[in-house]
Amino acid sequence: MYCVRKVTDDLYWVGGNDHRLALFENIHPIPRGVSYNAYLLLDEKTVLFDTVDWSIGRQFIENVETLLAGRPLDYLVVNHMEPDHGASIEEIILRYPEVKIISTEKAFLFMRQFGFTVDGHIEQVAEGDTRCFGKHTVTFIAAPMVHWPEAMVTFDTTNGVLFSADAFGSFGALDGKLFNDEVNFDRDWIDDARRYYTNIVGKYGPHVQSLLKKAGGILDQIKMICPLHGPVWRSGLGYFLDKYDKWSRYEPEEQGVMIAYASMYGNTEAAAALLASKLCERGMTNVVMYDVSSTHVSQLISETFRLSHVVLASVTYNLGIYPPMHSYLMDMKALNLQKRTFAIIENGSWACRSGALMREFVEGMRDMEVLDEKVSLASAMNENNAPDMDTLVDGILESMRKPQ
Ligand SMILES: Cc1cc2nc3c(=O)[nH]c(=O)nc-3n(C[C@H](O)[C@H](O)[C@H](O)COP(=O)(O)O)c2cc1C
Ligand SMILES: [Fe+2]
Ligand SMILES: [Fe+2]
Repeated sequence: MYCVRKVTDDLYWVGGNDHRLALFENIHPIPRGVSYNAYLLLDEKTVLFDTVDWSIGRQFIENVETLLAGRPLDYLVVNHMEPDHGASIEEIILRYPEVKIISTEKAFLFMRQFGFTVDGHIEQVAEGDTRCFGKHTVTFIAAPMVHWPEAMVTFDTTNGVLFSADAFGSFGALDGKLFNDEVNFDRDWIDDARRYYTNIVGKYGPHVQSLLKKAGGILDQIKMICPLHGPVWRSGLGYFLDKYDKWSRYEPEEQGVMIAYASMYGNTEAAAALLASKLCERGMTNVVMYDVSSTHVSQLISETFRLSHVVLASVTYNLGIYPPMHSYLMDMKALNLQKRTFAIIENGSWACRSGALMREFVEGMRDMEVLDEKVSLASAMNENNAPDMDTLVDGILESMRKPQ
C-alpha cells in the first residue's frame, strides 16, 4: 500500500522509514529508526527529488507509481549520491526509461562508480543553473562536503522550498509526522538531530558555513526546508538555522559541564560523581556524566558539541589512556571539534600517565584550552587529594565567568 504525505499543493513526500536498521553507516546506533525522504513534484513535468535507501525501495516505488498515476516520470534530481539516497536510482531508470537525471558532474561519476547505467539520462548542472518544470522553476546550489563532495541543494524559487540534501536532517523515523510543527522538536528530536549532524557532517563545519552563507542570500525567500532525513521545516526555521550555525562554527550551545569518565573498579567514577555534586552545590547544575565504556561514542561527541566544558576522568591503562576514552578523543579530533575548555582527573595505581597523555592529546587539537587545575588519584580519592577537587571546581567555575 502506498504511503505519502502532501507537502504543498503539488509536492509530495514519497519516502519511508526504516525501524530495523541498528547502525546508520554501520556505526551509529539509531534506536528511533531513520527516515529516507524523497519528494515528488507534479507540475507540467513530473520531477522526483532524490531516491531512497534500498531497504525501503519497494515502498518508495509504490508511492511514486501511485502518485504518477500512469504519467511518465520526466526528471530525477539527485542532490546527493550517497547510497542511503542514491541506491534506488537504477530502479527508477529501469521503470521510467525516459527519465532525465539532473545532477552534478561528480554525482554522475559516483553513479558510474556504483555501477549504475546512466548514459542517455544525463542532464548535468552546476551552481546557478535553473530548470523550469512548468509552474515551478528551480535553481541549483553547490554544497560540497555537506556531506559528500558531489552534493548540491535545489531551491524552488516559485514556492520557496529548499531541498537541502543531508543538511538539516536528523536520525529518527517520522512515523506519520512529517512537519516540524507536528512534533515537539526541541523535546523529542534535537538530541538525535545533533547526534546526526555532529557525527555525520561535523567535520565539515567550514563547508556548512559556506552553504549557510549562500542560504543567507535567499533567506527571506526560503519558506520550507525539505531534508533527506527527519522532519520537513515549515515554521520557525531560525531555530534550526541557529543550531547549524553554532555547530558548524564549533561554538557550544550551552555553558555546562560534561564529565566523561573511564573507570574499571569505580574509584574514578566516584571522583567524577563527587565533582558533579560539588559543581551543583556551587550552582552549576548543567552537568552530565557519561561512562565512556557504556556510552556510544556518537552520543559522547554530540554532547561535547552541546556543552562548553568537558572533564576527562580516566584511569591509566598499560601506561596509556583507557582505550574507550582514547577512542572518544580520537573521534573528537577526527571531527575537528574546537573551542572547548577541558579539565582533567587522572588515576593510576603505580605509574599514573593518563593525565599527561590526555592533556597532550587535547592540546594538539585546534583552539582547545586545558585548565591548569587537575586531580591526580593514586587508586582512589582520599583526604590528601580532596582539596584538589575543590580547586578544580573553582577553576571550572572561574573559566565560565571569563568572556567566551
Ligand atoms: C590492564 C590494566 C592495566 C593497568 N595499567 C596501569 C598503568 O599502566 N599504570 C597505573 O598506574 N595503573 C594501571 N592500572 C591500574 C588502574 O589504573 C587502577 O587500578 C585505577 O587507579 C583504579 O581506578 P578505577 O577504580 O576507577 O578503575 C592498570 C589496570 C589494569 C586492569
Ligand atoms: Fe550523506
Ligand atoms: Fe543521508
